[in-house]
Amino acid sequence: MKALVLAGGAGTRLRPITHTSAKQLVPVANKPVLFYGMEAIAAAGIKEVGIVVGDTMEKIQEAVGDGSKFGLDVSYIAQEAPLGLAHAVRISRDYLGDEDFVMYLGDNFVVGGINELVADFRTARPDAHLLLTRVADPRAFGVAELDAAGRVRGLEEKPDHPKSDLALVGVYLFSPAIHEAVRAIRPSWRGELEITHAVQWLIDEGRDVRSTLISGFWKDTGNVTDMLEVNRLVLETVEPRCDGLVDGASEIIGRVRIEEGATIRGSRVVGPVVIGAGSVVTDSYVGPFTSIADGCRIEDSEVEFSIVLRGASISGVRRIEASLIGRHVKVTPAPHVPHAHRLVLGDHSLAQISS
Ligand code: G1P
Repeated sequence: MKALVLAGGAGTRLRPITHTSAKQLVPVANKPVLFYGMEAIAAAGIKEVGIVVGDTMEKIQEAVGDGSKFGLDVSYIAQEAPLGLAHAVRISRDYLGDEDFVMYLGDNFVVGGINELVADFRTARPDAHLLLTRVADPRAFGVAELDAAGRVRGLEEKPDHPKSDLALVGVYLFSPAIHEAVRAIRPSWRGELEITHAVQWLIDEGRDVRSTLISGFWKDTGNVTDMLEVNRLVLETVEPRCDGLVDGASEIIGRVRIEEGATIRGSRVVGPVVIGAGSVVTDSYVGPFTSIADGCRIEDSEVEFSIVLRGASISGVRRIEASLIGRHVKVTPAPHVPHAHRLVLGDHSLAQISS
């Protein structure tokens, strides 16, 4: 069995963060979301992984390399444009050969891994096995309709009037029958070859399509609240550790991971928190559910329930809450006179100011 990981796409929903990076590399508890998927694939006993890449190919290759750090053998498959998930399967035909495979969308986060699912699929060998989860607004997803016996009856891609609240999670298991299906379908209204339509084709052909309902799932719907929530969830499982320096005037409480070369001075850090390598926290408070990435500076500030990306600095600001701060962003107080906010915000930024 192989894995096909999809890591193309533009990431429009997570702008401005994705202006300069791939959406699959957005960090959750200081680790790219894609890495959790790679680890789940390796844990399920799969070795060969094809990663479908687009415009952000270089960034993905730089992060994942040959896959050996995950114990995987990674090949890259270039998709010339984001023409859909079924298109990605089409162009991976030679790589996949006649093996069963798990297709994993690199921007999806599935709590609890895929071991059991892969094991069940290997035993039962249906033509497709889908993962479903209940969501508040199914219109942003593929949506499944089940019959009374729980079999998948129909699928729709991002419907205006969803027939259920069961969204398709971005992990699919397929037999080689899917290759015939992806060749049989036409592009959707959004100009993409939808995997949802390919699976619907299998259903219409009377093939065996199964599903499992899961609960822990996240995707980049562009909603920063969701991102903070998945960050919170993962931070709760972080192993406390200190590979940096904490001075005597600081207080570290609860589940806190301080990475190599990070320094905490005169500060109070209340976990769960991760502080990335080389970051410096001085005379500050870092509160629960906060991820501070590598090379950040937090000075004379308070940050809680937030994600701070690589190289950002926050100085003299109290307090920052429920925020996502991008790479190399600087947050400082404005001069007192005139009484005004001074902002340099990138395209698609969002600033909410208390004044
Ligand atoms: C894709 C699929 C959709 C699925 C979703 C899960 O959506 O088309 O059916 O629910 O992934 O992440 P897209 O990423 O294209 O919005």
